[in-house]
Amino acid sequence: MREVMQEASTRKIYDIQSSFYDGTFGRLVRRRVEIAISHMNITQTDRVLDLGIGTGQSLNFYPTFGRIVGIDLSSGMLRQCSRKIDERELSHATLLQADAMRLPFADDSFDHVFISHVISVVSDPIKLVIEAQRVAKPGARIVLLNHFQSTNRFIALVEKWLCPLCTKLGWRSDLPLQDLIRETGLEIDYRYKLESIDLWETVVVRNNKSAVNPAGRRNIRKRLPVLAA
Ligand SMILES: C[S@@+](CC[C@H](N)C(=O)[O-])C[C@H]1O[C@@H](n2cnc3c(N)ncnc32)[C@H](O)[C@@H]1O
Repeated sequence: MREVMQEASTRKIYDIQSSFYDGTFGRLVRRRVEIAISHMNITQTDRVLDLGIGTGQSLNFYPTFGRIVGIDLSSGMLRQCSRKIDERELSHATLLQADAMRLPFADDSFDHVFISHVISVVSDPIKLVIEAQRVAKPGARIVLLNHFQSTNRFIALVEKWLCPLCTKLGWRSDLPLQDLIRETGLEIDYRYKLESIDLWETVVVRNNKSAVNPAGRRNIRKRLPVLAA
């Protein structure tokens, strides 16, 4: 119930943000999105799932072949995204309004999954990663671009302290990557930051289905408490 409430408030926050997202937060992260997508090595016949595609900034950087499926909760964000698809005649891209934690796709449907600035927005980040692992083919590339809690104890404390404010803007600042890895069995190929001091990190994963941690689902509430709506 609490999860449903949080997703409802997230949807409202991003409906509002949709009119100014590209000129604000979107502008800040555009270069990172471009570089992260270049790490996917998308080929002609690949199917790509963009979870929480937002206003579709990523569409600037995907190749014009293959199949791109974007999903998002917010109809405002999807409207902006749909406009870009129409203007640029991107017939290889389709959109769907759906919850990234309950994906309407069969197992092993995608060659790449892109999760850009979404994992710290949803009420249950582990559920989202487990869904991404499920719909991605074995060996598929899952690319996470996000802010993760610092491993420096002082900075982590500040991030925790700032979290209630960030929540009002639609994301959490205190998500530890180590917990995600432990609870989902994510196997990281490599990870990088663009600057030596950088709030965001890109994590590139090869989907190893046999490494998925079945206990992750049970532990989520203990490890990562749901944010207040
Ligand atoms: C910070 S924006 C990131 C947008 C885009 N990926 C980018 O990097 O510019 C977060 C997006 O995630 C979407 N979102 C939040 N919770 C979601 C959920 N449970 N399922 C699908 N999309 C969700 C929001 O509506 C919003 O468009």
